[in-house]
Amino acid sequence: MISCKKRAKYAFLLPFVFAFLFVTSAFAQEQANVSETGVTSGAEAPAAAGAGGADAGVIDAGATLFKNNCVQCHSVGTDVVVGPGLQDVHKRRSEGWLIKWIRNSSALIQSGDKDAVAVYEQYSKQQMPSFALSDDELKAIIAYIKDASEAPTTGPAPDGNPGQAGQNVGTDAIGAVSGYMDLLLIALVLVLIVLVITLLIIASVLKGYLKNKGDLTGSEQEILEQRTNFANIYKSKAVRVIVGLIFVVVLVDLTIDKVMGIGIQQGYAPRQPIAFSHKLHAGDHQINCNYCHTSVYKSEKANIPSANICMNCHSQIQKESPEIKKIYRAIEKNQPIEWVRVHNLPELAYFNHSQHTKVGGVECQTCHGPIETMEVVAQYSPLTMGWCIDCHRNTPLNTQGNEYYDNLVKLHEKQSKGAFVVASNGGTECSKCHF
Ligand code: HEC
Ligand code: HEC
Ligand code: HEC
Ligand code: HEC
Ligand code: HEC
Ligand code: HEC
Repeated sequence: MISCKKRAKYAFLLPFVFAFLFVTSAFAQEQANVSETGVTSGAEAPAAAGAGGADAGVIDAGATLFKNNCVQCHSVGTDVVVGPGLQDVHKRRSEGWLIKWIRNSSALIQSGDKDAVAVYEQYSKQQMPSFALSDDELKAIIAYIKDASEAPTTGPAPDGNPGQAGQNVGTDAIGAVSGYMDLLLIALVLVLIVLVITLLIIASVLKGYLKNKGDLTGSEQEILEQRTNFANIYKSKAVRVIVGLIFVVVLVDLTIDKVMGIGIQQGYAPRQPIAFSHKLHAGDHQINCNYCHTSVYKSEKANIPSANICMNCHSQIQKESPEIKKIYRAIEKNQPIEWVRVHNLPELAYFNHSQHTKVGGVECQTCHGPIETMEVVAQYSPLTMGWCIDCHRNTPLNTQGNEYYDNLVKLHEKQSKGAFVVASNGGTECSKCHF
């Protein structure tokens, strides 16, 4: 009896615990999102010429040499690109060492130089290329690094893309809506807590009043002995309404996440981690779709190209572009580039690319629209069941040179006057698209 009362006494703590857990979990998720995108946002900034004492002309020349030869693997900040960040490297190493290293790092490593071996080991035994540069040119590069290290927050940032951080988190509609829902939930939980506390205070004030009253009736005595009665709390209309509201909000929140998360949205064009343009590649430079989407004629799924395919060209082209350096970084870290999926059929539907592209002879553009004009891929078709079936009802089967179909076509022509479309061959049977 006593323990029961005790439990009841501390029960008002429960909503606090719940709210605390909820807020911390929401916060942790936010943090995770931030660090996820933080990875790609290199913050570094070479300085304006002239701050480090050396001749401004020399520093300029060094900056140009650095940009042409080094920037695809190094920052002059602390960020690791492929090789280490070079901020303050002139303090770690002597000028003589730096000159030897840059000119031919492998010779220096093989000579057994302790620092050289250590840095080589640290960067997973990757070899930096040699550079046939003159002493003056090397000194200019070093002067530039020195200068940039000493005034690290001024000047242009060739690789800094601070605007990038957080771009694909929370900026799209899904993130925003579920963000508001989370806020609403937190607010409701807080209201509930305040309400519970207020009720408890009122109850205790009233009981205090009863106690002091002296001679009590039977029912008053009962109330005094009752302490916190949960049955009463449940019966309270206000509490019920609030609990009901919370329930509804949770439900709506989950449903929105589920429905929107699937991405069945025409026009959905999420921001990608690298500003890859189909207009530039498939349009202007006329690279074939299946140069990158190599499996689109062969299998169910069209693959998204790996970073290695990008490197076929970008080991040479646009090496200094900050966007391209993200590819280098992905390869260096051995992590795939985290492209955001645009098209998403629900699990319950079966769709096969090769059946449509190779067997059916349907053009990519019929379903995906003018991809070769898109800077950012957008979902062109609705991808609903009605869309699939409409096309199957209206598209004649590509039967040429296919003996199996020849017989079917003859059979079909006997039975009906309409064209031999996909639907005539069972293309609208449930089991074709749903297992
Ligand atoms: C293809 C990538 C690549 C290029 C281009 C490159 N480096 Fe490196 N660099 C590396 C790697 C990787 C390391 C780490 C050591 C190693 O594994 O060889 C490194 C190490 C260094 C170090 C030693 C840093 C330290 O902390 O001791 C210096 C200095 C350096 N590079 C300068 C340059 C300069 C200057 C250029 C341009 C002339 C340049 N690098 C071009 C990849 C590169
Ligand atoms: C140089 C390589 C390259 C070429 C060529 C290329 N793509 Fe892509 N494609 C990509 C990359 C990388 C992505 C993922 C990033 C994005 O969505 O922009 C992608 C994404 C897509 C998507 C969206 C996939 C999803 O997430 O649902 C479609 C559809 C697509 N490509 C179709 C095409 C078509 C059609 C062509 C030819 C007209 C083509 N691509 C040519 C590299 C390429
Ligand atoms: C067949 C060659 C080829 C392949 C493969 C290729 N690209 Fe490109 N890419 C180019 C060309 C050509 C340009 C345009 C260069 C120019 O305009 O100077 C370019 C430009 C770019 C740019 C713009 C760079 C800038 O800052 O202007 C980005 C970003 C890019 N490519 C990303 C990628 C990614 C990501 C992949 C792999 C999915 C890829 N490319 C695969 C040839 C290729
Ligand atoms: C008949 C319509 C249709 C045609 C034709 C078509 N696609 Fe698709 N594509 C889709 C659908 C539907 C999806 C979504 C599939 C999913 O989510 O499982 C998709 C998804 C993709 C994806 C994302 C990866 C995947 O497989 O889910 C890429 C990339 C792609 N298509 C490229 C292409 C290219 C390139 C062509 C032309 C060679 C092409 N598609 C032709 C309907 C089509
Ligand atoms: C632009 C027209 C078009 C659209 C849109 C389309 N299809 Fe098709 N589909 C075809 C054609 C043409 C064929 C016949 C291929 C062949 O010759 O076997 C086909 C065949 C199929 C088959 C094989 C049918 C059989 O009889 O074996 C399946 C399964 C299928 N489609 C699923 C889908 C799904 C799922 C979608 C929607 C996500 C879809 N299709 C959207 C044109 C389309
Ligand atoms: C040509 C392919 C195709 C055929 C044939 C087809 N479906 Fe679908 N079905 C789909 C696709 C694609 C989706 C997913 C559409 C979406 O998410 O909007 C779907 C979704 C569904 C859903 C889920 C609806 C929802 O809102 O989640 C049901 C149930 C369903 N189909 C039943 C059937 C039945 C029953 C048949 C036979 C009479 C059938 N389908 C034939 C392609 C097909």
